[in-house]
Amino acid sequence: MSLTIKDLTVKFDNVTAVDKLDLTIEDGILVSLLGPSGCGKSTTLFTIAGFNKAENGNILFDDKCVDEVKPENRNIGMVFQNYALYPHLNVYENIAFPLKMKKFKKSEIKDLVEEIAKLAKIEDLLKRKPSQISGGQQQRVAIARALVKKPKILLLDEPLSNLDAHLRIDMREEIRRIQKELKITTVFVTHDQEEAMTISDKIALLNKGKLQQFDKPQNLYIKPKNLFVSKFLGNPPINIVEGYIEGNTLNVLNKSIDITNLLKEKSLEDCSYDIGIRCEDFYVVDSLEKCDIEGQVSMVEIIGREAIVKIIIKDKMLRCIVPYEKLNSISERIFLKIKNEKIYIFSKTTGDNLLV
Ligand SMILES: Nc1ncnc2c1ncn2[C@@H]1O[C@H](COP(=O)(O)OP(=O)(O)O)[C@@H](O)[C@H]1O
Ligand SMILES: [Mg+2]
Repeated sequence: MSLTIKDLTVKFDNVTAVDKLDLTIEDGILVSLLGPSGCGKSTTLFTIAGFNKAENGNILFDDKCVDEVKPENRNIGMVFQNYALYPHLNVYENIAFPLKMKKFKKSEIKDLVEEIAKLAKIEDLLKRKPSQISGGQQQRVAIARALVKKPKILLLDEPLSNLDAHLRIDMREEIRRIQKELKITTVFVTHDQEEAMTISDKIALLNKGKLQQFDKPQNLYIKPKNLFVSKFLGNPPINIVEGYIEGNTLNVLNKSIDITNLLKEKSLEDCSYDIGIRCEDFYVVDSLEKCDIEGQVSMVEIIGREAIVKIIIKDKMLRCIVPYEKLNSISERIFLKIKNEKIYIFSKTTGDNLLV
């Protein structure tokens, strides 16, 4: 089932939690709502579920407006951060609960619970109480309970936040596997950009209730619409430095760079801009003559195959990613060349990426 959010505004007293949100989620895909804490992710999810009243706008399932449909009749499954399992019921009874409420027959319940327990790989845990299983297993139970009624839409609100790092990676792969197997339209809320990048078909990045960009994960990273998007995605974060453009020349970090190729046919006003350079978009070179930037190395952080090097240039700090084998050639000084074709130029007034 496809899901459309049309011009949605949700307010709490004088707080606008969701501000004119438009989003169309095609049938069978997984979309992440991503953004910092308080940006309106949960409010959007709860409004899709029917728990919040919209100030303006509509929610459509397959082009049918569901604004007047009660939450229990929307045919959705929901999973929360804290699992919300019933502690006094065992795993079987927890999963069976929504079916019991709907007065399904006992034999039917048994078949459905067993089927979904198999999919969630918890067949062996059915007799245990929530307190007798691990956090990851509890989350599997919560997912099984959300799916047992065979809903058309699955809504997940930060489902992995309470798990430790390793388990989080396992469980996000599991959620993706189950989602793909069922081909269920899914909205996944997270504040973790890496999680959103790895799990989603598309990401909707929100800030202060407003949609910043809705696109495939790689497009948010490579073609960010604005400064906020570029800063939110990427770890370590993108370097933002002051730059000045004069014609086809960019003056940045005390260097003049010809940006004719970068601008293509565009022409930008001669003024200052926020210039973005991703940490991986530098070459390490071996001499001052060949470099764009000479800096002082202030810290080297090994992250496996590569290292993050913090560099001080006058009063500025840059981060760049350097292949492990290049580290030997680095002492206190480092010589870098910028990959000119990878530079981002953002407006100082609107924050817009002026090259897309
Ligand atoms: N029930 C509520 N009553 C009042 N304000 C709320 C309520 N729910 C959310 N808000 C406010 O709406 C904004 C968005 O919240 P939320 O959707 O929970 O953000 P997120 O899930 O992205 O962290 C925040 O400013 C929050 O304080
Ligand atoms: Mg939230």
